Amino acid sequence: MKMVLSLERLLQFLLLTMHDDLLQSKLDGRGANLSLRKLQTSEGLVDFCSNDYLGFSKSKDILRQALTMNIATSDRVIGSGGSRLICGHNELIEAIEENVAGFVNASSGLLFNSGYNANIGFFGCVPQRGDVVFYDEFIHASIRDGIKLGVSKSYSFQHNDIADLRRRYDFLAPNQTVFVVVESVYSMDGDMPDLIEIAKFCKEKNIKLVVDEAHSFGWLGDGRGLVSKLGLEDDTYARIITFGKALGCHGAVVVGDELLRSYLVNFARSFIYTTAPSIIDQKCVYVALEKLFSLDFNKLKIIELIRLFKSLVEKSDLNVIPSVGLIQSVLIPSNRQALKTEQKLRKNGIWAKAILSPTVPIGQERIRICLHDFNTVDEVKKLIDCLNNG
Ligand SMILES: Cc1ncc(COP(=O)(O)O)c(C=O)c1O
Repeated sequence: MKMVLSLERLLQFLLLTMHDDLLQSKLDGRGANLSLRKLQTSEGLVDFCSNDYLGFSKSKDILRQALTMNIATSDRVIGSGGSRLICGHNELIEAIEENVAGFVNASSGLLFNSGYNANIGFFGCVPQRGDVVFYDEFIHASIRDGIKLGVSKSYSFQHNDIADLRRRYDFLAPNQTVFVVVESVYSMDGDMPDLIEIAKFCKEKNIKLVVDEAHSFGWLGDGRGLVSKLGLEDDTYARIITFGKALGCHGAVVVGDELLRSYLVNFARSFIYTTAPSIIDQKCVYVALEKLFSLDFNKLKIIELIRLFKSLVEKSDLNVIPSVGLIQSVLIPSNRQALKTEQKLRKNGIWAKAILSPTVPIGQERIRICLHDFNTVDEVKKLIDCLNNG
């Protein structure tokens, strides 16, 4: 009996060790091709990295107003106390959902804890078995993960290539419910789809168009996003509006019609089985939205900084992916070279991230630069100087 027990123990020990070895060898693999992810702090560096395009996350004004606002959230002041369906719902969340939906001209909205949660929630439950989702090959990981959680079929199409989307669509059997999902501004390249053409195609074929507005909300269309800028609200089935980028906060709202909202409340697992955002988060979002709604976009400094950045790039040999503005990617092929440039920038007090393969395809490694309203002319000049001498 004793002998059997110790053999079992030995086997368990070996299995555990083998598992640790497997994890270590995977990490070693990442190390070998210089793609090992590590956490870094950024104190004291000039920010060309965060998605805080308008500098809202630094706003002491927003924080002060949020901390002193007087709005019904029961008597809680920190946590929300539970999931939305149990006890985490309140009037403040309702106001956020209504305000966002009203601002982007949608009939309803539903708050999720983050854009990631919104996307896995939506794609994990809305497309049904037998439905088909077409997604741009550069679509965000949260949408891919959502599709994986769901039961529909899915196919990618080439980046921003409507002809390829049409070709792939033509292979489908008739009478299937089809979704097309795109981003309004792609987070790695900073470019945009031809949304007017995509919306036209979707309308022609009765396809449900979903647009992730993470990098356009708070910026394009006076902050309303690309769909509203182009007047395509009635041609989209749903939009994902996130608060972690230009709004400088945290959370996301899926906007669409009432039926969609009700369905998500009942079936989106990332909505149902999680604690609602903290009261502090809710208050900051509410105040930041108020600030966004009243912003004069013509007065933003960032417009001039984008112009400056582009003109300096034109005079240089830098290989920059054509982009609409806030996100600028300087291609520096190979993980080694991209990392070397990131380190050099860091030594010069600049914080901009190297984006490595496999996050981007091999040969497309880059330094991803985010321009912000709080950056200065001198900072942009120094950035380009450092990149030129990289
Ligand atoms: C296009 C896109 N969608 C969704 C997300 C996820 O949003 P969140 O950071 O709020 O989870 C991101 C964030 O990187 C994004 O870039």
